[in-house]
Amino acid sequence: MRLPLARVRVVPPVPDAATMLSALPVACAMISAENRFIYANPAAEQFFAISISQLRHLGLADLVPRDSPLFALIEQVRAGEVVVSDHDITFDSPRLQRRGVTVQGTPVTDEPGYVLLTLQDESAARTLDRQMNFRSAARSVSGMAAILAHEVKNPLSGIRGAAQLLENTVGEADRELAILIRNEADRIRDLVDRMEAFGEKPIVRDAVNIHRVLEHVRRLAQSGFAAHIRINERYDPSLPPVWGNRDQLVQVMLNLVKNAAEALTESESDGEITLITAYQHGVRVAVPGSKRRMHLPLVVTVRDAGPGIAEDIRDHLFDPFVTTKPSGSGLGLALVAKIVGEHGGLIEMDSRPGKTDFRVFLPIFLEDRCEIGSSAESD
Ligand SMILES: Nc1ncnc2c1ncn2[C@@H]1O[C@H](COP(=O)(O)OP(=O)(O)OP(=O)(O)O)[C@@H](O)[C@H]1O
Ligand SMILES: [Mg+2]
Repeated sequence: MRLPLARVRVVPPVPDAATMLSALPVACAMISAENRFIYANPAAEQFFAISISQLRHLGLADLVPRDSPLFALIEQVRAGEVVVSDHDITFDSPRLQRRGVTVQGTPVTDEPGYVLLTLQDESAARTLDRQMNFRSAARSVSGMAAILAHEVKNPLSGIRGAAQLLENTVGEADRELAILIRNEADRIRDLVDRMEAFGEKPIVRDAVNIHRVLEHVRRLAQSGFAAHIRINERYDPSLPPVWGNRDQLVQVMLNLVKNAAEALTESESDGEITLITAYQHGVRVAVPGSKRRMHLPLVVTVRDAGPGIAEDIRDHLFDPFVTTKPSGSGLGLALVAKIVGEHGGLIEMDSRPGKTDFRVFLPIFLEDRCEIGSSAESD
């Protein structure tokens, strides 16, 4: 007898465990009682930046320093036959550099001494969190800039003019003081001018060739503040144009290259700066004030071989007025974060002695979709 069609329910087959583990975006690796790799899913291959076929010839100690808290965690799992997790682990070895990793170790039934590890890099999530904060910090500067421009600039030009008059009328001893007043007034005016860049103006966008932007910045740098520094270029010439404002992108790259050059100069190192462009799959970010997520496939890295970013300012790096330089204003990175944010992009920092990376993720220009909303892909 044939059943009526409506009653037949086709139950899809359950994929096997290996297929599911392969699809899992979290790094999973199984290690033996001797801490050798038995299995790693594709996310783990990416995490360790080594393929499973190579990993199977390695022990954990080949990748992670022996004093890493990871070994203690694994021993705890074995000793208590329990799940153990640890947060904010740093891996810092020649083959593996990651910070802010959450690790979970689980004993494997039936396989004595085996431990299943999951490793999650939380730093990316935290970067996103901080991005949102940078944007609001920049916004608070924009309000203040408007007030300063109005309330400070006008009286300042009066002070400067008066000092200039005095310079010509007072005696030699007092002239120095008048010059000091004029110079300081100029310094305040420069600061206010820079803060005015934070003003809220709608951005005018077009297709921008990022390599031309970088080339322009490199030339500016080499003919001025970075004349003594070698700047290397590692570009992917096949990249599509960015959907952005050319002048603002020049400002972003110039600020990053200037910081890199200053880091090298201050530390008197003979290191170099490298500008890198690349295509990166899978970076999507929420567009502020909308439910859409934007695809940000183009990444520009400004790398320097300087001493790295001081530990105590890292959490506030993109806030305005954070600086370690005697004559710095601390507005460079705040402006960078504001412009990148307005482009719907992202900025990420990764720094240790000898290698500091600022990575800027940007949207690309799509011929048929020309405004920010429609170049975003909805979830
Ligand atoms: N590439 C880098 N290497 C080391 N430290 C850096 C780097 N880039 C930024 N920093 C640190 O971040 C701080 C803030 O940078 P930011 O560009 O916002 O301000 P600034 O360079 O101090 O002053 P300004 O850019 O306004 O002249 C710097 O003072 C410096 O300590
Ligand atoms: Mg700067």
